[in-house]
Amino acid sequence: MHLTPYEQSLLEGAEGPGVQRAMEIVVTLGRIYGAEDLVPVRHVQIAGVSYKNLGDAGVEFLHEWAEQGAKVRVPTTLNPAGMELERWEAMGIAPEFARPQLKVIEAFIRMGVHPTMSCTPYLFPEFAPRRGDHLAWAESSAVAWANSVVGAYTNREGGPGALAAAIVGRTARYGYHLDAQRRATHVIEITCPVRDIADFGALSYVVGRAVGDGVPYFADLGAWLPPLPADITLGGEAGDRLKTLGAGLAAYGAVALFHVAGYTPEARDLGEALTRPDARRIVIDSLASAYAVMDANPETTAIDLVTIGCPHASYSEIERVARRLQGQRLATRLWVTTSQIVRERAARDGWVSIIEAAGGEVVADTCAVVAPVRQLGIRRMATNAGKMACYAPMHSRVEMRYGDLDQCLEAALTGFWPEAPRPGGPSPTTDEGRW
Ligand code: F3S
Repeated sequence: MHLTPYEQSLLEGAEGPGVQRAMEIVVTLGRIYGAEDLVPVRHVQIAGVSYKNLGDAGVEFLHEWAEQGAKVRVPTTLNPAGMELERWEAMGIAPEFARPQLKVIEAFIRMGVHPTMSCTPYLFPEFAPRRGDHLAWAESSAVAWANSVVGAYTNREGGPGALAAAIVGRTARYGYHLDAQRRATHVIEITCPVRDIADFGALSYVVGRAVGDGVPYFADLGAWLPPLPADITLGGEAGDRLKTLGAGLAAYGAVALFHVAGYTPEARDLGEALTRPDARRIVIDSLASAYAVMDANPETTAIDLVTIGCPHASYSEIERVARRLQGQRLATRLWVTTSQIVRERAARDGWVSIIEAAGGEVVADTCAVVAPVRQLGIRRMATNAGKMACYAPMHSRVEMRYGDLDQCLEAALTGFWPEAPRPGGPSPTTDEGRW
């Protein structure tokens, strides 16, 4: 792999052991993946921030790296932590969890990382990527957004790999940093309705399972997407659907890039030329199989926590929830999980106080997957977010109900899951038969 004289000097320890360790990680990853050189990155997003996932060994590892004088040299932001930093006591988090969690954040801050604690760096006006930017992002849902919706270039970095890239300001140039690797492996045709965020989550299940780590090209999904708002950091109906889709594709498959014909930047420019000659065709005529799996516990009716905002809620999602809850009173817990910055923006316009007046919480810095929700007594959860439906049963060992926003808010208002007929229809097919 070609390194510049400066990169070689970092590898040899010219800027201390912390930087040397980072360069070793970046170069090793580059060699493993056959990169020819390194590419400077404009922004890094670090995942693996919750003490729930890191444990004591992770806390020690981060402090040791900070101790070695490692500092990030490009803007770098953090994924959600296991609790809201300012309000953990009010959330009911035990000090035994809170103390090491705060130490994790302290280590990142010592290294110069912005403590944003959000999986949606693209909703931060200051950090939102632009088309053509090279990034080193570790949050899979954000990777899908950056590559697909923005047309930026990033692989899905691991936790230490992303931090190493931030410390040296570079990552190895392979995978989705190369145009040739961004062509579609599957063409997806959809003949059933894809009406709302929950349907986009269900679609992500079907497609994620079918394509694995491939690159889907949605031939006709644009029909179910209104235009993106001029200020994309607000989310909007289209942005909220696309972030749900990307998050679920990464969770149920390992998708880091998707294209929507006539809609996403590369698909707008290149059209079907973006698809590989050997791309497989998949026709989806029903989301029923997805709902049957994602709505995992149909026998569960009483709900302890309704959670909206996975990936972290945009301004428009908070507004949507507030409008539906105006003047009402909740019977069970509701978390709308988001970032501090989006909460402040929504609070200025009165949306947060409407949700709080109903008895709900707009929770920043965390989510129901990375927070220790079982310690908070939560066993039965409901959501309209595909990735949450995938991960919360595994990571937080909860029973899960999955449905649209109306069903979720109805559950929050009554404490019970309202039944609604699931979408019907046969299973998806490919040109090689049913799968
Ligand atoms: Fe974000 Fe938590 Fe979902 S980190 S993508 S809200 S699982």
